[in-house]
Amino acid sequence: MKYKESESPSQIGVEITDVDISKPLNETDLNSIHSLWVKNSVAIFPGQKLSHDAYNNFAMQFGAFGKEPFLTTMKTQMHIVELRRKATEEASHFGGSWHSDWSFQSSPPSATMLHSKIVPPFGGDTLFTNSALAYDDLSADLKAKVEGLNGIHSAKLPYADDGFYALEGKERTMKIKSSKSANKQHHHPVVREHKDTKRKSLFVNPVYTVGIEGMTDMEAFTFLSEIFEHMTQDKYIYRHQWDADMLIMWDNRSVMHMAEGGYDGYERLMHRITIAGESPIKSL
Ligand code: SIN
Repeated sequence: MKYKESESPSQIGVEITDVDISKPLNETDLNSIHSLWVKNSVAIFPGQKLSHDAYNNFAMQFGAFGKEPFLTTMKTQMHIVELRRKATEEASHFGGSWHSDWSFQSSPPSATMLHSKIVPPFGGDTLFTNSALAYDDLSADLKAKVEGLNGIHSAKLPYADDGFYALEGKERTMKIKSSKSANKQHHHPVVREHKDTKRKSLFVNPVYTVGIEGMTDMEAFTFLSEIFEHMTQDKYIYRHQWDADMLIMWDNRSVMHMAEGGYDGYERLMHRITIAGESPIKSL
């Protein structure tokens, strides 16, 4: 197995080659991949053709499968979601705003994996921003301010009955299940400590963090807007450009991500699996 860590100022991304991930990993390779992934937040495996079974087996080596509350999985694959946007589709592309996957769950997924099947000739990049580095760079005063805060997370903006996807009204290939249950809330510390690396990061995101405990809506909006502006500066961003048969796995505890779009007129197809995570740990 070989690897190359990204030289991007964002400190995100490690490309891992000379390993066949369609076969069970030996213990040494599995441990190395896990360490490289949590250190660099996004692990990239180019040139990996995977059957559904091989993909499921690879994923299971990193933990139990996550729960997909608002997305329909493939008919014969209860853990794989098809992110397909057809060439003729006019609906917005899925995942187009900064978020950390399912942060509204009590224990949000640690990892999300995407395996590329059809890649458009241009556009369709996935962007990641480093929430641990963004935390490190906060002033001492801001660190003290965010330390004891809890964010209120909910899926209501995209997935409620009156949420974005329900109201968009354009035909889409992906089957999204909007529901009342999207209004449920979970509170998580704004500063999250990573279970493995022990690094602190800012665990808030514009799609699912809908408030801050103890703040009015207006106070929370102002506070979160400043934090999001800080977190999404160019210096924290890694742009992932896809080739077909590439698998990437990101760590939702240390990055936010978004799909950029920009490939109207071409099809894009990704297969997605999430891995269950732990309840966010409050930093000490
Ligand atoms: C997502 O948010 O999971 C989608 C990312 C992508 O399609 O690039």
